[in-house]
Amino acid sequence: MHRIKITVIGAGNVGATCAEVIAQKELANEVILLDIKEGVAEGKSLDMWQTAAINHFDTRVIGVTNDYKMTENSDIVVITAGMPRRKGMSRDDLIKINAKIVKDVARKSVMYSPNAIFIIVSNPLDIMTYAAYKALNRRSKNVFGMAGILDTARFKSFIAEHLNTSPKDIQALLLGGHGDTMVPMPRYTTISGIPITQLIDEKTLNAIMERTKAGGGELVKLMGTSAWYSPGAAAAQMVKAIVRDQKRIFPVCTYLQGEYGLSDIYLGVPVKLGRHGIEEIIEVDLNEEEKKLLNTSVESVRKTMKVLDAMNLP
Ligand code: NAI
Ligand code: 2OP
Repeated sequence: MHRIKITVIGAGNVGATCAEVIAQKELANEVILLDIKEGVAEGKSLDMWQTAAINHFDTRVIGVTNDYKMTENSDIVVITAGMPRRKGMSRDDLIKINAKIVKDVARKSVMYSPNAIFIIVSNPLDIMTYAAYKALNRRSKNVFGMAGILDTARFKSFIAEHLNTSPKDIQALLLGGHGDTMVPMPRYTTISGIPITQLIDEKTLNAIMERTKAGGGELVKLMGTSAWYSPGAAAAQMVKAIVRDQKRIFPVCTYLQGEYGLSDIYLGVPVKLGRHGIEEIIEVDLNEEEKKLLNTSVESVRKTMKVLDAMNLP
């Protein structure tokens, strides 16, 4: 029987939360949590493992300091290494620091797990996913990024709060980059099949969409660093869809090769996630307004891609 092994690179807020959710939901037999800081991943993993008897899971969580040999033959590698956004920093400010880290850890990981699926979380997300794709010799089907699940979860939480309903019943779609130009899609958002536009007036819905777009920044302002509970859980939900071969449809930061009329760019679009990673890219119809908003997001992502290209990183 195949044992499932997941590696999470970066044992900070997001990485540790992701590892914890994976363990609590028993999505793998083994989780390796790796960090560059001596002892941090070991300590967090030991602490997590000591919750196993309380929370009743048997997923073995092991922490290591930069020991990639221990990640050997992982089925999935989740990359959360890098700096988070601090107060006053945009996601793009992070590019110079995080691109080097992401490329480096991606290369080291793939040496030991040549067949792994890579889920990138580090910011700025669309660009870091593109950086990992380049570092990993362009295995685009197996390299993608987490943002859309988080952004739609925020959108759903605000809708649920406003309507005093369960977030469970809300289905929502969001396209584009993980930044202020992301495109929430009210036309494709429903509560148990009821179009959201029938339940929330236009002005309120616009305010909810604006809050969603600034959702990451709202938390940075409150906490002085970026969020981790929802990002960690969102990355773990992608892991679950893959290891359980669920064929779930989520917005995922995906390499486009002609879909939506776009090429050579990583962008959030709906995909089917299963054991082979991205098994299908779904193209939804867009009206003129939606196309315009998506193009603005594309321009913003391409601008940052140019920053990365100009860095000429190996
Ligand atoms: P954190 O600072 O708590 O953790 C980052 C960890 O990465 C640290 O423990 C650090 O030692 C480690 N690290 C740095 N360089 C490394 C290397 N070369 N090898 C291994 N580990 C290394 O940060 P947090 O809050 O966990 O955020 C992690 C990243 O995720 C940030 O870039 C953040 O902006 C991003 N993020 C992305 C989201 C998304 O929707 N895609 C949502 C939330 C955060
Ligand atoms: C977030 O959206 C900062 O990307 C991070 O919370």
